[in-house]
Amino acid sequence: MYSVFQLGLKYLNYYFTAANGKGHGIHSPFVFDLVVKVLNDETNYAAYKEIEQQRRRLLKNETIITVEDFGAGSVKGLTKQRVVQQIAATSLKPKKYAQLLYRLVQYVQPTQILELGTSLGITTAYLAKAKPDAAVITMEGSPAIAEIAQQQFADLQLKNVKVVTGNFDETLVSTLAASSTPFDFIFIDGNHRKDPTLCYFEQLLVKTTADTVFVFDDIHWSKEMEDAWELIKQHPSVTLTVDLFFIGLVFLRKEQKEKEHFVIRF
Ligand SMILES: C[S@@+](CC[C@H](N)C(=O)[O-])C[C@H]1O[C@@H](n2cnc3c(N)ncnc32)[C@H](O)[C@@H]1O
Repeated sequence: MYSVFQLGLKYLNYYFTAANGKGHGIHSPFVFDLVVKVLNDETNYAAYKEIEQQRRRLLKNETIITVEDFGAGSVKGLTKQRVVQQIAATSLKPKKYAQLLYRLVQYVQPTQILELGTSLGITTAYLAKAKPDAAVITMEGSPAIAEIAQQQFADLQLKNVKVVTGNFDETLVSTLAASSTPFDFIFIDGNHRKDPTLCYFEQLLVKTTADTVFVFDDIHWSKEMEDAWELIKQHPSVTLTVDLFFIGLVFLRKEQKEKEHFVIRF
């Protein structure tokens, strides 16, 4: 993981070199449309308010839970005590990006959504509210965290979310095997290490279509994640990527004849 200073420098470099966030000078009609209709959509959707209310409740929740440590830098089988409000403050996507995912789902109109890394379910709620008739499968290693996420879905009256609990390394294979239809929107937000990220990507590709959109979280968080992002960009199935610094969008669209990679200020 990069230090705050290193990440700050990288962010500054991104900010001053990225393509204009309003779409000026972006020659790809597909990407221009995405910038105008999704990145720059400033509508205050009703779902934003109710989900952010849940986030605020979680930020005040002082319950202590025992969680197994998953993901980057963890030791297998290690558990620790965590306060819910700490998890809410450090693990969830900030509203700027969670709401971007909401608009992206509305734009893509997927029928099946997969999220790796539920945590307390705030971003899941955005994905599920954006398309209530889509089936959302979200995966989380820690049963105690997953239970709190389930409570958020109940509070928000979400009926289209299924939580799969367990280590992705074991649960992803069975989840993919059990799904008869492809996933057309996939958010990877857990276990930010190079090899697992690439391995999940390869496994998931089998259950995609040319219209599937992948969103990878924290693509510049560490050297390992930057390496993973570079390899994903070079993958033969990938035709277009959009780097928004804290997240990366990956498209497999066949209409795209030449591979293109965009870095856009957001
Ligand atoms: C960054 S949080 C997800 C945040 C959530 N997507 C949001 O924005 O609201 C990552 C979650 O992935 C889970 N996780 C990480 N590695 C995992 C693994 N190998 N198997 C299962 N869960 C894992 C962690 O327990 C953690 O709750």
